[in-house]
Amino acid sequence: MCGIVGYVGERKAQDFLVSGLKRLEYRGYDSAGIATVSKDNKTTLIRAKGKIVNLEEKLAKNKRDDHIGIGHTRWATHGEPSETNAHPHQAGSIFLVHNGIIENYKDLKAELKGHEFKSETDTEVLAALVNSFYKDGKYPLINAVVQALKLVKGTYGIAVVSEKNPDELVVARSGSPLVIGVGNNETLIASDASALVGHTKKAIYLNDGEVALVTKNSIEIKTLNAEPVSAKVEEIETNLAAIQKGGYDHFLLKEIMEQPDSLAETLRGRLNVKDGTVRLGGPGLSEAELRKIKHLIIVGCGTAYHAGLLAGYYIEKFTPEITIETVIASEYRYRDAYIPKDSVALIVSQSGETADTLACLREIKKQGTKTIGIVNVIGSTIAREVDGGTYVHVGPEISVASTKAFTSQVIAMVMFGLTIAQAKGVKSSTLAPYVKEIAKLPEEIRKTLDSTAEDVRKIAKDYAKYDHAIYLGRDTAYPAAMEGALKLKEVSYMDANAYAFGELKHGPLALVDDRFFEMALVPKGILFEKSISNVQEVLARGGHMIVVTNSEIDLEVENVVKITTSLEIFAPLLMNLISQLFAYYVTVAKGYNVDQPRNLAKSVTVE
Ligand code: M6R
Repeated sequence: MCGIVGYVGERKAQDFLVSGLKRLEYRGYDSAGIATVSKDNKTTLIRAKGKIVNLEEKLAKNKRDDHIGIGHTRWATHGEPSETNAHPHQAGSIFLVHNGIIENYKDLKAELKGHEFKSETDTEVLAALVNSFYKDGKYPLINAVVQALKLVKGTYGIAVVSEKNPDELVVARSGSPLVIGVGNNETLIASDASALVGHTKKAIYLNDGEVALVTKNSIEIKTLNAEPVSAKVEEIETNLAAIQKGGYDHFLLKEIMEQPDSLAETLRGRLNVKDGTVRLGGPGLSEAELRKIKHLIIVGCGTAYHAGLLAGYYIEKFTPEITIETVIASEYRYRDAYIPKDSVALIVSQSGETADTLACLREIKKQGTKTIGIVNVIGSTIAREVDGGTYVHVGPEISVASTKAFTSQVIAMVMFGLTIAQAKGVKSSTLAPYVKEIAKLPEEIRKTLDSTAEDVRKIAKDYAKYDHAIYLGRDTAYPAAMEGALKLKEVSYMDANAYAFGELKHGPLALVDDRFFEMALVPKGILFEKSISNVQEVLARGGHMIVVTNSEIDLEVENVVKITTSLEIFAPLLMNLISQLFAYYVTVAKGYNVDQPRNLAKSVTVE
């Protein structure tokens, strides 16, 4: 969602701010702006609706060599996308950018006298509140920010500068990430470390409830209660190549194609194929604790939820006496769900910042249940708040549509399931086939992508004309079909829904006509004959069907995508690659923005 950057140092602030905002574009936004302050206390505030190129056009006429400034990409929450609602917001000499939501902004606004509000945003209220403590020299900048934040209910990551002081920048966070990059005679601010890559490798991740006063060569952190915090400097592991397209037209295709390597990273050091065993250090559960687990709750949103559903199907196949419930975080956080004793919760999130997933994590922890993160972004809020965890290590995922994270989330969870099964004494002859197939998966993914991408591209072009799609599967192919439908709808804007094959006769079969096409995932050995009967039912009603299978089939369908693989258990994961490629190529054929679909953000940090 929204992105924050800030700079104080010796370079031209505008340059870093614009390049940093471009790095954060992938998060989704609808307006952008920057404010820089000159040595002689003049502020240049430039904002524009739409993409960063619009901002750059304005900046070209307003080049400044100021050495301090803040910038923002806004994803509208309060008020439409417009220049007036774009950040930074000004109140007196205060300029402020904000990620998150100030829930009590109406009450605060009613109390604030003497500021003429120009925008509809909650952020301008926060700027005016800070100014009310800052103007007339009542408080120094950092203390004015602290006084204001003490009155605020909601979530925020903020960066603030004052026209009166061109050497200081103040940042604070509660529920919305903020990273401080430590440079040589410069300090850089971002809501996401990817904006700092190439500038510094040293970063300090602020914790909730912390505020920092930043100059070009000092960083002073304290809590809102004025307790000093000693900063932990961490290394940024991401490199420039990981956040560039690397010769691909789009990040989405790059990330689909990266999966052989990204999954290999997930597996690194965790599999012992010879013994047929798995070793995960991160969850930090003893053998006795693993043995005791009777119930798994898997929590996520969107793709992470689908990964949880699919992993749940697998884990229950090889782990005895365990119940698994995979839940949508935005629902679960408000349910009055009873969590039985001996439960463990898997908290699944690529970004590690998704607001609903984070809220569930906190709720579940309150009930005394152990939480294990299945997270990609290192140092993210969820990764830091869980009791233990397994990073999926897929590297930055820039495209809004999640692909490589899904594959690795599924396998990371299956590996966690295998560690439970091992501890519970499940025979190695039951578990070894899973370990063997997992070990082969990276190479099988590579073969599948190489051998099918061109065919899928050709097929996809013919289906770009449809407005409706039905994805179908059974057993493990069903959650894979759900993920395929999500991928298609979010990038191509087609109305795509998934059904369990067995549900067709209970309603969805009525949809089948020329407005729809059907994508059926039919893996060999997984209720294969039953799926084939269902395919026939659709064909008998004039369906326009694409069948994805690793088996021979003898049916008159419009198109078959045949996967040649030695894998059976994880064939549905390979089929999902076809769905990913299909969604990509349909969207390219339609000419839409593949990496940044309309209305969506990469990381959903507000409810
Ligand atoms: O960062 P997270 O994994 O927590 O994100 C969860 C969902 O917002 C995300 O998977 C979303 O559904 C993707 N755009 C799907 O491609």
